[in-house]
Amino acid sequence: MFDKAAYEKRMAWYQDARFGMFIHWGLYAIPARGEWVRSTEQIPEEDYIPFFEEFNPVDYDPKAWARAAKNAGMKYAVLTAKHHDGFCLFDSQLTDWKSTKTKCGRDLVREYLDAFREEGLKVGLYYSLLDWHHPDYPHYGDQNHPLRNCPAEKEKEAGRDFNRYLEYMHGQVKELCTNYGKLDLMWFDFSYGSLRGEAWKATELVEMIRSYQPDVIIDNRLEVSGEGFGSIATDEPAVYSGDFVSPEQIIPPHGLKKQDGSDLIWEACITMNNNWGYSSLDKNFKPASTLIKKLVECVSKNGNLLLNVGPDARGCIPAESLEILEEIGCWMRRNSASIYGCKGSSLPKPENGRITECKCGKLRYYHIMEPAIGAVPLYGVRPDEIRKVRLLRDGAELKVENNWIVNNYPDIAFVNLSSSPILPDPVDTVVEVELK
Ligand code: GLC
Repeated sequence: MFDKAAYEKRMAWYQDARFGMFIHWGLYAIPARGEWVRSTEQIPEEDYIPFFEEFNPVDYDPKAWARAAKNAGMKYAVLTAKHHDGFCLFDSQLTDWKSTKTKCGRDLVREYLDAFREEGLKVGLYYSLLDWHHPDYPHYGDQNHPLRNCPAEKEKEAGRDFNRYLEYMHGQVKELCTNYGKLDLMWFDFSYGSLRGEAWKATELVEMIRSYQPDVIIDNRLEVSGEGFGSIATDEPAVYSGDFVSPEQIIPPHGLKKQDGSDLIWEACITMNNNWGYSSLDKNFKPASTLIKKLVECVSKNGNLLLNVGPDARGCIPAESLEILEEIGCWMRRNSASIYGCKGSSLPKPENGRITECKCGKLRYYHIMEPAIGAVPLYGVRPDEIRKVRLLRDGAELKVENNWIVNNYPDIAFVNLSSSPILPDPVDTVVEVELK
């Protein structure tokens, strides 16, 4: 039975947080062509093992990662404890395919958890349901496995026991849930074809997880992938429907609703360039200004943004990403009141920017992204509804205009932001309106 009260309670911090860091890191940082490299290039295991033998991220400093996330204004993080290649960044007792058996010899997950918690961030782990290392995971004919087209695998399929894989997978999730303290979020990835829901023994898995981590938030990919919302959008969510929808590389064109019309909780996961895992050639980084606007867009549609970094083989977050985080942080330090604890407005999107609102309903934030000629119109609010207006970045009073230029439009309050034709913050100048 869906326990609405428990759901709302565990989702409260998450909906206030709005902004998190996704971290894709593993052996694939060495070939540096993204985390799918084994699959896209159909690399046999023997050609991937050299990366395991070489793996030694001498510069791994999770405290520096945590500081970068915190300074950017992020409130939580999600690290790939295991990605599709099966390699574990934690000291699993169920495999040797793990960081502690490489030259580095460290439990990278534990160090990450310690460091991020110490900075006061909520911590999450990504765990891949796919596993291209485990012998019992389907190889031949699977949609994604690196050896899907390898004729030699065909006759081996009959000998694979998927239940043995499930036991392993459940066992690892149990390790993560019992050996590492309180986890705030578990991010499973992903269901496809007939491998979804009960094919993962997902009810049992989720019940086990909740028995150890009663407040943990779980994504929806035990049931779906980036495609599809799953039964969380219906009146009868499955036990494994998860707690939020996970649109990938897209911000939904409008806020998402459940069947009954209520808001669906969602988190858009987005890369800074075009890859999750480190990619040395991919320099297509989105400008910080764009990402700030995208964060605002998410909040204005009641969603979260999980922004990805892909650290390199030495353990460093790419310099481009650090610069972006720094710039976002500059904006956040002045304007985060319009993000944390905020949601979308029932007003339509104004033509000069976006609107977010404090949950309390008394504070409305006009994100002005396009300068006006003269005073800026605050769409949807009349002068008489306003108690006061402030420029969020410095707290300065903004007077509601009352003159012959604006008086033809009595249903809209106008404020002057500056004597300059350029916005005080050209990316997004936030005007805080306190309503009566
Ligand atoms: C995908 C990919 C994966 C990535 C994830 C992030 O489904 O398989 O590589 O980790 O999306 O959302």
